[in-house]
Amino acid sequence: MSEKFYITTPIYYPSDKLHIGHTYCTVATDTMARYKRMQGCEVMFLTGTDEHGQKIEDKAREAGVTPQQFVDNIVEGPKGVKDLWKLMNVSYDRFIRTTDDYHVAAIQKIFRQMYDKGDIYKGTYKGKYCTPCESFWTESQLVDGKCPDCGRPVVDAEEEAYFFKLSKYSDRIRDLLENTDFLQPRSRVNEMIHNFIDPGLEDLCVSRTSFQWGIPVDFDPGHVVYVWIDALSNYITALGFQNGRYDDYAKFWPADVHFVGKEIVRFHSIIWPAMLMSLDQPLPKHVYGHGWLLLDGGKMSKSKGNVVDPYLLAQRYSADALRFFLLRSFPFGSDGNFSNELLIQTINTDLANDLGNLVSRTTAMAEKYFAGTLPAGQRADEALDGELTALASGLRDKYEEAMERYQFQDALAAVFQVIGRANKYIDENAPWALAKDMDANGPRLARVLYNLLETIRISAVLLTPFIPDTCAKIFDQVGACEGCRTWDSAKVWGSLSAAVTVKKGENLFPRIDMEKELAELEEAEAAARKAALPAVEIEPAVEEPVDFDTFCKSDFRAVKVKACEAVKKSEKLLKFTLDDGTGTDRQILSGIHKFYEPEDLVGKTLVAIVNLPPRKMMGQVSSGMLLSAVHKEHGEEKLNLIMVDDAIPAGAKLC
Ligand code: MSP
Repeated sequence: MSEKFYITTPIYYPSDKLHIGHTYCTVATDTMARYKRMQGCEVMFLTGTDEHGQKIEDKAREAGVTPQQFVDNIVEGPKGVKDLWKLMNVSYDRFIRTTDDYHVAAIQKIFRQMYDKGDIYKGTYKGKYCTPCESFWTESQLVDGKCPDCGRPVVDAEEEAYFFKLSKYSDRIRDLLENTDFLQPRSRVNEMIHNFIDPGLEDLCVSRTSFQWGIPVDFDPGHVVYVWIDALSNYITALGFQNGRYDDYAKFWPADVHFVGKEIVRFHSIIWPAMLMSLDQPLPKHVYGHGWLLLDGGKMSKSKGNVVDPYLLAQRYSADALRFFLLRSFPFGSDGNFSNELLIQTINTDLANDLGNLVSRTTAMAEKYFAGTLPAGQRADEALDGELTALASGLRDKYEEAMERYQFQDALAAVFQVIGRANKYIDENAPWALAKDMDANGPRLARVLYNLLETIRISAVLLTPFIPDTCAKIFDQVGACEGCRTWDSAKVWGSLSAAVTVKKGENLFPRIDMEKELAELEEAEAAARKAALPAVEIEPAVEEPVDFDTFCKSDFRAVKVKACEAVKKSEKLLKFTLDDGTGTDRQILSGIHKFYEPEDLVGKTLVAIVNLPPRKMMGQVSSGMLLSAVHKEHGEEKLNLIMVDDAIPAGAKLC
């Protein structure tokens, strides 16, 4: 029976389109899943979306749709979560949505089971709450009085709620973290012990009454299950735990590893095992807390508006190039700084130069010197070949050792060390010089090319989990049969038949002109950001009411523009001299120079409130205010002064 391997991504919040940070975690998980499949394991790779909570409820209200419609669009709609994973070649086996019926029913059973056991009880919640992060914090966890995750203000919260007796499991969790390799990398263990276990675990609030968009507690209407029980349980409900939809729980649980970002390590390494202990279920074997992709040194987040769009990058450079970049450039356990320069540089150096050139030079030479098929009679030279063949033969072990530690960067570095050695081997053996005397050197030349093809083949097997499409092309080009593409064959030097036939294809990764591309990419990103903004945006109405009498005191008049000029030293202000029907000129200043040239307004009849107290702006007096309509189009502010028919006499009262 083949070995089982169960791996998961976090389930993502569909409160916005996903960005490159989410893509990073999913691509890492996909690469691991593909690697394990290649090794012959029976793999279950689960991903999905975490669809409940106040933030989604709020966002849906803002968008004027139901929460279900809102999440449906982000998950299943165009360029949504599923489209993104398809574009990125993500080979998940199962996709769970926490709004799926079977999950909802299972959560109700799980909640009741924990309640019946006495691990969930009713109390009053008092604490600090960060709405965007949907996290409760104790006073001591706040940083400068703000949310420690996102730095935004928190609010006091108090309400009737159910609690999970997390404190009961404190000793067992400490033991799990300190004395096993459950949580990786090891540095994360110290964080958890210092920040959460040592100060004493507090019981966890697991239900809310202040919003509706959640799974109802079936024995206490009005309460919905608060996110973490709902979200974390996805890893078992998706296998069929407490539901009849799937039947893989016995087969795949416990999970081999949950990949999660560092800010949710706390939930996965403390709350999740405690929940499983309460349910008397086995614990996952590992939780791996990876680092963040940073932009300009800060965490990307849609609400801060500093996100990188994976869609645009994958469409521009290919999914493989983006997948490769993400895992080659940053150590998985630490944070990494994303930049367009680094992306283009990595594509150029590793993919175009080192890998792409090695494949195209080797196949081109095999075609040129041997019409594509190497002769079987070849002459080896241990002194010249030994280092390359030894490196390539030992590559799989080195690679495997790194992959088993989830160190994708190290695994790729090992492969690219061999690719670099192969490029040097070409220069050392100068095939073009050997080709000058084919009678004497033909067998040697054939061996040089064979060694290169073998090195490429082994590298391609090991690169397949990272860049599957590219490797399929490489195998075709170097004439690798099915049996030469397998995990087993990566350990066997000499798998290609000596008389192999190659077929040169087009360049795998064309070189990119950095300067030109950076400029074009920035333009494309700006255009995409603009297109993603709502076509027309209107400021929401002020909810604070104005009483009718106060409103009626405002005096709206038609005013005719006698003169208009820009105010010196001001970029924004225009000075209007207006006929307001009183016989005395009225002066109003208005910050609309961005939208109008003064000469275009002379002679127009506008609408002004004339009984506002005079104000001084840039040393000039303004008596009143001109009315205009404001809105945004694709994020750009638009303003139109309200004008009335020129036949309306100056001073006419408007009501
Ligand atoms: N819904 C919860 C997870 C529940 S799992 C039972 C959640 N969702 S999330 O959409 O906010 O984040 C999902 C994952 O994306 C987290 O692991 C988070 O670390 C990761 N990332 C979000 N931004 C990221 C970066 N900029 N860089 C790397 N990963 C980041 O939390």
